[in-house]
Amino acid sequence: MINVGIAGATGMVGRTFLQVMEERHFPVDQLYLFASSRSKGTSIMFNGKEYMVEELNEDSFDKPMDIVLFSAGGDLSKKYAPIAKEKGIVVVDNSSAWRMEDWVPLIVPEVNSDAISEHQGIIANPNCSTIQSVIPLKPLYDRYGINRVVFSTYQSVSGSGIAGLEDLEKGLSTTYNNLYPHPIAYNVLPHIDSFLENGYTKEEMKMIDETRKILDDQNMRITATAVRVPVKYGHAVSASIELETAFELDEIFTLFKETDGIKVLDDLDNNIYPMPILAEGKDKVYVGRIRRDFSIDNGLNIWIVADNSRKGAATNTVQIAELLLNK
Ligand SMILES: NC(=O)c1ccc[n+]([C@@H]2O[C@H](COP(=O)([O-])OP(=O)(O)OC[C@H]3O[C@@H](n4cnc5c(N)ncnc54)[C@H](OP(=O)(O)O)[C@@H]3O)[C@@H](O)[C@H]2O)c1
Repeated sequence: MINVGIAGATGMVGRTFLQVMEERHFPVDQLYLFASSRSKGTSIMFNGKEYMVEELNEDSFDKPMDIVLFSAGGDLSKKYAPIAKEKGIVVVDNSSAWRMEDWVPLIVPEVNSDAISEHQGIIANPNCSTIQSVIPLKPLYDRYGINRVVFSTYQSVSGSGIAGLEDLEKGLSTTYNNLYPHPIAYNVLPHIDSFLENGYTKEEMKMIDETRKILDDQNMRITATAVRVPVKYGHAVSASIELETAFELDEIFTLFKETDGIKVLDDLDNNIYPMPILAEGKDKVYVGRIRRDFSIDNGLNIWIVADNSRKGAATNTVQIAELLLNK
């Protein structure tokens, strides 16, 4: 049994951490919940017991914790993760604050669990769209090699946390539009996170940089367009993949069926393919619409759907914590 802290416990990901830990019987002894001053003193149930939320501050990590799961945003992770690490508490961070640091492992357990052995106190959980995309890319990479990937994402509003859900829900019946630069209700925004000088958004560059880091191939050619859609839970990714060597489609189906973490949904006669409403609340990565890209040699198109709040965030983080326990 270990002592666990959660920074950002009242948020969408924080609450999902608790739900996933309960479901997976994560062996928690003491539990400490932290959020902003707004939530101080509110209570949250875990395993049938009530826990008080405390305000996150410099002294939070004086408590006897073994692991702390962070999901309170990048600025707070930057500030507080080093304090926790200094006190000997292992940090598993959901924000983008530490992901691209060379000394920080960026882990999807189905893909690169070995990287856990290199950790120096902070471990990063990848971006939600990256997690669900690298799971099918990895077996393709190992078997055929990958020349190039084109990602186009269709990302739900829960990827922006509770405020994203609010913009969609209220926006459906009023002109409410608080978080995004334009209404998300009845709309589609080719804009996730801020724009960079190269014309990409930060979200797009996260998919590119993090995929290269997880697959340990800095030369992989990848491009991405990240789009917010008016869906509550579940991100979809269209991936067009140029493999290095020839393939047969039935080999690809078999490969995905044998890959840990993937469920193939691809029965066109019966209109069966992955959709966010099927993935919501689940931990699998659903892959379908598996077909040749006839426009290039060795081209493959796939459609990948997963619940961003679970496999894209909380479940992957709890799996990383389980790797730590087993280590
Ligand atoms: N949503 C996703 O699908 C997803 C996926 C992967 C990664 N992430 C990352 O996970 C993090 C949290 O996302 P979310 O979707 O859960 O957001 P959220 O629903 O907005 O929750 C934010 C959490 O951070 C806490 N917080 C805010 N300001 C704070 C402060 N000054 N001090 C202490 N705690 C503070 C909030 O506490 P209060 O309730 O007290 O305000 C809340 O618990 C972000 O870094 C996000 O990029 C999210």
